[in-house]
Amino acid sequence: MNAIHVPTGSPYDVCIGPGLLSELGPSVRALYPKAVRVLLVTDSTVEPLFAAPAADSLRAAGLAADTYVLPSGEASKTAERLVELLNFAAAHGLTRSDVFVALGGGMTGDITGLAAAVYMRGLPYIQVPTTLLAAVDSSVGGKTAVDLPAGKNLMGAFWQPGLVLCDTDLLSTLPEGVFLSGCAEVIKYAVLFDSALFDRLDRDGPAFDREAVITQCVGFKRDVVAEDERDTGGRRALLNLGHTLGHAVEACSGFALSHGQSVAVGMAVVSRAAAQAGICGQEDARRVCGLLERFGLPTATDIPMDRLMEKMLSDKKRSGNKVSVIVPERIGQCSVRPMGPDELRQFMKAGL
Ligand code: GLY
Repeated sequence: MNAIHVPTGSPYDVCIGPGLLSELGPSVRALYPKAVRVLLVTDSTVEPLFAAPAADSLRAAGLAADTYVLPSGEASKTAERLVELLNFAAAHGLTRSDVFVALGGGMTGDITGLAAAVYMRGLPYIQVPTTLLAAVDSSVGGKTAVDLPAGKNLMGAFWQPGLVLCDTDLLSTLPEGVFLSGCAEVIKYAVLFDSALFDRLDRDGPAFDREAVITQCVGFKRDVVAEDERDTGGRRALLNLGHTLGHAVEACSGFALSHGQSVAVGMAVVSRAAAQAGICGQEDARRVCGLLERFGLPTATDIPMDRLMEKMLSDKKRSGNKVSVIVPERIGQCSVRPMGPDELRQFMKAGL
C-alpha cells in the first residue's frame, strides 16, 4: 500500500493499494472513535458490487451502517437529490459525531462531500473511489458540489475528506469505457507535470501499473492542493487543463460524452490551438492527441463554436469577463492564460 499525506487545513491521508475496502470499518473506528452510525452513499451501479462488503466491514467494527443509493449518472448530482440525501441522514438519526462514506465515482463523491459539508453544519466523510477518475482527481482535494440547471458544480463547498481509501481491486471491475474515460485525467497530469509519466503511458498504454500511476497522480494533486487549497488563482487552476472546453462539450452533448471523453477533446483542442499560436511545438500537440487516441479517447467535436462559446462564457472559472485557459507549452509544462471572449473564440477555433 502507498500512502500520501495531504497537508490541507484539515489534513488527511490517501491510501492506495489492493484490499483496502476491508479496512473501511477499522479506519472509521480509528479516526472517529465517537462515531456510532455511518451513512454509506453509493450509486445503483456500485451498490450491487461493493456496498455489502463495505457495510460488512463497518458493522464488524461495531458501527451501524445505512446505505443511500443514488441512480447512477451525472443527472443525480442535483440540489433535489442533495436534499433527499440530507433527509435520509436525518431520518436515520445521523449526528455530528457520525460519518458519511462516499463509495463510488465522481458524482457520488461530489454530492456526498457536499452533504457532509452542510449536514448539521458539517460532519466528517471518507472517500472510497471506485473509478479511476475519482481515484486520481475528484476524491482528493475537498471540492464538493452539485450541478444547477445553469451549469456544472455551481452549488458547492470546499470540505476536505478525513481519509481517502483507494482500493485498486475495485478498479479492476470497471467497464473498459469507464476506465478509459478516467485515463483522460491521468494523461492530464502527464501533460501538466511530467513528461516521464507521459512516456510511460505512451509505452504501456492502458495496461499501465495502476497502483504506481495512481500514486504518482495523487502526489501531483496533493502538491497543487496543498499550495492552493481553495483554488484562489494559484497553481490549482492548472488542474483545469482541458476542462474549459471539456465542460462545454460535456454539457452541449447532453452528457452523452463522459467527463473524461469531454476533457480529452478539451486537451486535444487546446494543444492544437497552442501549437497554432506558437506557444507549444507541433510535435508535442501531435503527441498529446496521439496518446489520447491510443487510449480510445476522442480528440475532436462537431458541436458548433457558438454553442461551445456560450457554455465556456458561463464557466465558473470566469473572472470578470475573462476565462482562464490552461495552455500546454510543452509536455510536462502548462500555463494559465486569461482570455477575453474574442481571444477565447479565436484561440479555440484554431484548435477545433
Ligand atoms: N478537479 C480539479 C480540482 O480539484 O481542482
